[in-house]
Amino acid sequence: MSHQIYFLGAGPGDPELLTRRAERLLKECRVVYLPPMYDQTFAEFLEAKELFIPFEYYFADLIEQIKSQLTSGPIAFLVPGDLTFYSPFQALVDALGPLAVVVPGVGSANAASALLKKTLDLPGVCSRAILASPRTLGDGPDAPTMGDFAAPGVSLLIYMNNIPLPELVAQLREGYGKDTPLALAHRVGHPDEEVVVASLDTIVAKVGNRDYFNLDSPNPRPALTLVLVGESLTAEADPTWWDYRRDNIWKYQDNS
Ligand SMILES: C[S@@+](CC[C@H](N)C(=O)[O-])C[C@H]1O[C@@H](n2cnc3c(N)ncnc32)[C@H](O)[C@@H]1O
Repeated sequence: MSHQIYFLGAGPGDPELLTRRAERLLKECRVVYLPPMYDQTFAEFLEAKELFIPFEYYFADLIEQIKSQLTSGPIAFLVPGDLTFYSPFQALVDALGPLAVVVPGVGSANAASALLKKTLDLPGVCSRAILASPRTLGDGPDAPTMGDFAAPGVSLLIYMNNIPLPELVAQLREGYGKDTPLALAHRVGHPDEEVVVASLDTIVAKVGNRDYFNLDSPNPRPALTLVLVGESLTAEADPTWWDYRRDNIWKYQDNS
């Protein structure tokens, strides 16, 4: 019987954010597939393991190699963040069918929210969240833009941004007011993580010439920068909601 390949949500970069299940499964595997950025941050977990970079292979060759390696033992596949959003590995999971096991992890959205110490929905402030990427919206004349998602009460999370910041802000201003906060969460979970928070009116000046999106780089890979927009980023939670819930929801809790 063949072993299985574990697609481990490995978190944004910090190995402390591995789940206990992912850590246990990683320890069991001698063969590990991982994106290049993880070989240093995960070094302590990778000693004496055989490492492979998945992006070096064509799809059919990769599947064939994985199936052959599975005859000798289980395989760990480190998925940046978590598979839930913007993960390029779905085709592998589908092709491997029952050989594949997916283990959830900490996505960059979760890690950025923790860094900002802000929940992204807040009663009376933000009632919904939209995750989007300008890279995947299409290029045609009818393709949506970030302006189509911008609205008061929406927390917008923008992955893999490839639009220059002034242009992105102009799109966001189609639906948000000038004082709406925007955060750039850069390389979250890495030793050089940074976060910049300003309003849509001031973010461009605050960032200056700093290229958080690698737009000036010949390397086409998206930068590790998550853009978060919405009033909940700087709002203070209204404590009266606590008492309302205590009286109307929590006191009816049945723990049996
Ligand atoms: C291909 S997507 C992978 C997202 C991943 N599946 C997740 O759940 O975090 C890559 C994009 O995710 C965001 N991202 C991933 N890791 C990040 C990090 N450590 N810090 C900030 N943003 C990150 C950035 O927007 C980056 O361009």
